[in-house]
Amino acid sequence: MDIIKDKDLIKTHSYIDGQWREGDSKITVTNPATGEKVASVSDASVTDANYAVESAKKALKLWSSKSATERANLMRKWFDLMMAHQGDLAKILTLEQGKPLAEAKGEIAYGASYIEWFAEEGKRVYGDTIPALAGDKRIVVIKQPVGVVASITPWNFPNAMIARKAAAALAAGCTFVGRPASQTPLSALAMAELAERAGIPSGVFNIVVGDDAIGIGKVLTQHPDVAKFTFTGSTAVGKQLIAQCATTVKKVSMELGGNAPFIVFDDADIDAAVEGALVSKYRNAGQTCVCTNRIFVHRDVQETFTEKFVSAVQKLAMGNGMKDGVNVGPIISSKAVADVDALVKASISDGASLMLGGESGELGDTFYQPTILTNVTNDMPIARNEIFGPVSPIIPFDTEEEVIAMANATEYGLAAYFYARDIGRVWRIAESLDFGMVAINEGIISNAAAPFGGVKQSGSGREGSKYGLDDYMELKYLCMGGI
Ligand code: SIN
Repeated sequence: MDIIKDKDLIKTHSYIDGQWREGDSKITVTNPATGEKVASVSDASVTDANYAVESAKKALKLWSSKSATERANLMRKWFDLMMAHQGDLAKILTLEQGKPLAEAKGEIAYGASYIEWFAEEGKRVYGDTIPALAGDKRIVVIKQPVGVVASITPWNFPNAMIARKAAAALAAGCTFVGRPASQTPLSALAMAELAERAGIPSGVFNIVVGDDAIGIGKVLTQHPDVAKFTFTGSTAVGKQLIAQCATTVKKVSMELGGNAPFIVFDDADIDAAVEGALVSKYRNAGQTCVCTNRIFVHRDVQETFTEKFVSAVQKLAMGNGMKDGVNVGPIISSKAVADVDALVKASISDGASLMLGGESGELGDTFYQPTILTNVTNDMPIARNEIFGPVSPIIPFDTEEEVIAMANATEYGLAAYFYARDIGRVWRIAESLDFGMVAINEGIISNAAAPFGGVKQSGSGREGSKYGLDDYMELKYLCMGGI
């Protein structure tokens, strides 16, 4: 941590009710690139989680009664501070998560952009008037904050996933309790330090770092004072959390797993498709929910695409994300590498061919080489499961109908990508893909102005955009009579 200029950004206790709360035991944060210890962080308990919810409840009245402009001004300061400390925040992120420093900088700007966006959007929470059915009545609809929001967020975007949820919550007038992944708590705690410097009042933004995922998860999903629960993570865990939330009928939004198809049609600009596949697949070493999971290529352009794609992937440099020029960092743990490798091996034994990569290499067991498999079919393990690693399975197709059927043959429905130029085809395919987000001739889909979210078992609700506040607000219908 010597490389961090502003040492006060390195926080090692949970942030609850405006205080740094020391715990009895410690969680060790490890650099996945080197296995070295980065920091020891207090391990918060269920009692701490309950206290955080109570603090958020206590702060609710003050925060929700501020005007949208007052909240926006404080959030704007938070955004400015995050951008002013982008370099340090990015280094903290790379040290605990592993992604290349340039990508980490991008994530800080991406996370901060949600704070900026929602600060402004909070000023545009309009209600409605509805013509009444009787002359002496009026119907008015107002929007109010839901109350205390609790979240659980993953290690793959330690800053942006919290920012995306907390920014919408705070802009709507809600208070927030977040549990970041125990592998990557330092980014969340640094955000809390900057929220405090920005003047966001005590109890409005709380971060609980604790290894007791089940105990703390139960508090956040079952506490009667939590009005809304939001989660980003796997579909399997999301289902359990939804069930827990049912006990108190919480408002829920879920951003769960994906199995994104990336389709290259015969009329596509092949160079652009190669570039899109590269970023959508190998960003964060393939560890994003919207990462390309299956590459479908029209048989007529398969050879050209594969040749160019292999040559582009060969140029990617794998290594410690702190080193200049590295494009692909480590995977979060050796267990995660073993899971990716098992999918690759199982698919090879089912008939897939290894074109590139397929092993950890010399850097150690938290790395996995950028890998390409050909002769893949849509029923192989590598195509059926969310890979969460730097592996591209290439599957040929002949017709639009065939590829749409294969792309949609998954329980997931988060992101999909396709490359084509024919305008009729572009509309047909965009409308036929059963996914919440469709990128057309584009490899990067995420930004604060757009509604991020999935259909089917990829989740519910939308984050970001003008729709993103809806999940954090209740509609209240006022019926005025006797006029
Ligand atoms: C995720 O992987 O869950 C989020 C990816 C993104 O925001 O682009």
